[in-house]
Amino acid sequence: MTIFVTGGAGFIGANFIFHWLAAHPGDRVVCIDKLTYAGNLSTLSSVLKNPRFHFVKADICDRDTLDRLFAGECPDAVVNFAAESHVDRSIEDPEVFLRTNVMGTAALLDACRKYETPRFHQVSTDEVYGDLPLDRPELRFTETTNLHASSPYSASKASADLLTLSYCRTFGLPATVSRCSNNYGPWQFPEKLIPLMIANALQDKPLPVYGTGKNIRDWLYVEDHCRAIDVILQKGRPGEVYNIGGNHEMENIAIVKRICRELGKPESLITYVSDRKGHDLRYAIDSGKLQRELDWMPETNFEEGIRRTIRWYLDNRPWWEEIVSGEYQGYYEKMYGNR
Ligand code: NAD
Ligand code: DAU
Repeated sequence: MTIFVTGGAGFIGANFIFHWLAAHPGDRVVCIDKLTYAGNLSTLSSVLKNPRFHFVKADICDRDTLDRLFAGECPDAVVNFAAESHVDRSIEDPEVFLRTNVMGTAALLDACRKYETPRFHQVSTDEVYGDLPLDRPELRFTETTNLHASSPYSASKASADLLTLSYCRTFGLPATVSRCSNNYGPWQFPEKLIPLMIANALQDKPLPVYGTGKNIRDWLYVEDHCRAIDVILQKGRPGEVYNIGGNHEMENIAIVKRICRELGKPESLITYVSDRKGHDLRYAIDSGKLQRELDWMPETNFEEGIRRTIRWYLDNRPWWEEIVSGEYQGYYEKMYGNR
């Protein structure tokens, strides 16, 4: 079978490509990625020469190119990771989020419809549900929780989810949606909490914690997310939404202190900075449906996952050092300079 993976030069998409090529030795993977600031071809260097892998630099909004690719390859499945994914950037400039996350998903759905692709999977996020209060630990998001997005990023992802489900109901396109909690692991762009704190700590730079540091996220090791999407593609029912979560809630400040401890860096590097606008308080995912129906469970506990992740950033300094020394510097100054 041939599977299209859009956004495969980014963090989760690349990990998914490694997973798929290893787990499905008979399959071909075609990666379609625009290589935005978040996409990095060097991440895929270990598979670029694999005869079962093909990379295409293209924008998912480019309908002519999609038409050509779908006509030529007739994919058996499309998994859409391509997105603008960083909440802070969506607060600075929402427009590109609407373009890629909404219009790009629409272009992929139309191509799947035209070429009768047997499966479309939309990779979505728990952020579409909005947030939970800090003082009601018993509450968790289920697949039937109302959509209540807070940021332009999450609103664009919620729109894409609704479009995907509408194509399933209206046109009979066999589509599934998964909504996952915060991922961490190798190859994550250092603008996100965990890799940013690791990279800053390794450079003895301040560790900027937003607001009180008491906001809570539910962390999942990236390989567990990739396995979950795999089982949804194999056994998931079209028209269904599946929550994916790590069942591991942590306050941001606890994560940052943990990284300091693992790296032997002083907590005096921690600097409280002004809060993110509209900052979601707590995310907590109930992934019972995926566990019951498709027999999926997270396999990597946080202790092991965070150690593996830190070890990866220590062993792969050239990968992230090249990023933080380039145009990312301008971004960092703009986002953190006056905070
Ligand atoms: P990322 O920002 O690391 O990667 C995004 C990739 O998409 C990049 O390679 C980029 O070049 C590509 N891309 C962007 N615009 C494109 C376009 N118009 N055409 C083609 N390619 C384009 O993101 P990530 O963290 O790997 O997230 C992947 C997906 O998973 C996203 O849809 C995100 O919403 C979702 N998600 C992420 C998390 C998380 O914790 N990171 C959790 C749940 C869901
Ligand atoms: O929940 C899934 C989502 O997780 C994905 O859909 C998004 O693509 C992904 O970026 C992530 O969103 P968050 O906003 O939760 O992740 P981020 O790493 O940006 O921030 C995690 C928490 O850490 C959040 O409460 C904000 C805080 N934070 C973040 C940064 C970058 C800080 O305190 N300081 C920082 O410098």
